[in-house]
Amino acid sequence: MTEALFSPLKLGAITLSHRVVMAPLTRMRAAQPGNVPGELNVEYYRQRASQGGLIITEGTQISPSGQGMPATPGIHSEAQIAGWKAVTKAIHEKGGFVFLQLWHVGRISHSSLLNGRLPVAPSAIPAPGNAFTATFDRAPFETPRALETHEIASIVEDYARAALSAQRAGFDGVEIHGANGYLLEQFLQRRSNQRTDAYGGSIENRSRLVLEVAHAVSAVFGADRVGIRLSPFGVANGSGEDDPLPLYTYLIERLAGLGLAYLHLIEPRASGAGQAEVDHQNVPFSSELFRPYWPNVLIAAGNYQPGTAAAAIDEARADAVAFGRLFIANPDLPERARRGLGLNPYNRATFYGGGAEGYVDYPTCEASVQTEPG
Ligand SMILES: Cc1cc2nc3c(=O)[nH]c(=O)nc-3n(C[C@H](O)[C@H](O)[C@H](O)COP(=O)(O)O)c2cc1C
Repeated sequence: MTEALFSPLKLGAITLSHRVVMAPLTRMRAAQPGNVPGELNVEYYRQRASQGGLIITEGTQISPSGQGMPATPGIHSEAQIAGWKAVTKAIHEKGGFVFLQLWHVGRISHSSLLNGRLPVAPSAIPAPGNAFTATFDRAPFETPRALETHEIASIVEDYARAALSAQRAGFDGVEIHGANGYLLEQFLQRRSNQRTDAYGGSIENRSRLVLEVAHAVSAVFGADRVGIRLSPFGVANGSGEDDPLPLYTYLIERLAGLGLAYLHLIEPRASGAGQAEVDHQNVPFSSELFRPYWPNVLIAAGNYQPGTAAAAIDEARADAVAFGRLFIANPDLPERARRGLGLNPYNRATFYGGGAEGYVDYPTCEASVQTEPG
């Protein structure tokens, strides 16, 4: 039933031996001080690595101003690069591949995380809802500071520098986080971008920063080791484009021209980005809508089970499927999917922050079998 998930897939410069991808998952457990990946994080990723399988890391800030939550890891200090080196080594030792998700949160931050400075964004428009503060409390989003035109080039440089650091840390590639209401999506969408310079207004202008970042990161790593994640129908973090098709068709066609290894699309059915049990039925698959514009590998994500994922591949709606919440609760998800075994339920209360509980203590199927009575 799930055979379609277990055939090899050439993904740019690497070849996967199966198509059960681990989605990027923020867990807010980086070691302190310094937001450095530590031993606990190494263990978490080691548990989820599989022979020939792809892991996409949690969103990782490219610069101090790109941080939006406490205890999320960065890739802008030497200590962080060393911490990530231990993670990539552990994954490679199990025969797996790992891409780092490059993250700048833009307005989805709080001054308590930014040395008292306001978050930056395309326009001075606050996101609705509450930010995480440095002390894991919640406070209303502040009105961000609109970036000056001359500052934008340095953001692009931060992405390129982060890609270089990822290369030094042993990553197989990087994924540009262009989804879920963070900085790049804030630039893409009219609701958060009301600029009047070359980065606002028309679809071409609103797409400019994403394309510059994709170009700069590809120049560092090679386009065949770069992917991008988009959520054309997303509503996370105050995002939401009224008419996504023209914007995203243009953007995806341009990205295709750069020859990136993969496009990672979040399905409209999962528009809450895993924050709520959103499940919109009777909406089109974004993988189906945008497939005609994308010649390379397409990864779909959002509310998939192994069975529905295999169907998506069989029906050529996607080449691989990324799993988020199921991978949190099932460190050996590919093995369970291959053998058609049951899955551990996830515990939402331990998604963000904390220690080993709900992080490295979910049992593998071997352990589950051993603990069953009789
Ligand atoms: C705890 C949690 C953290 C997440 N962190 C990220 C992240 O860092 N970057 C990202 O692109 N998506 C993130 N997401 C979204 C997931 O990658 C995925 O798209 C979403 O959970 C829907 O897939 P699922 O139904 O398989 O869980 C997160 C989701 C959850 C539940």
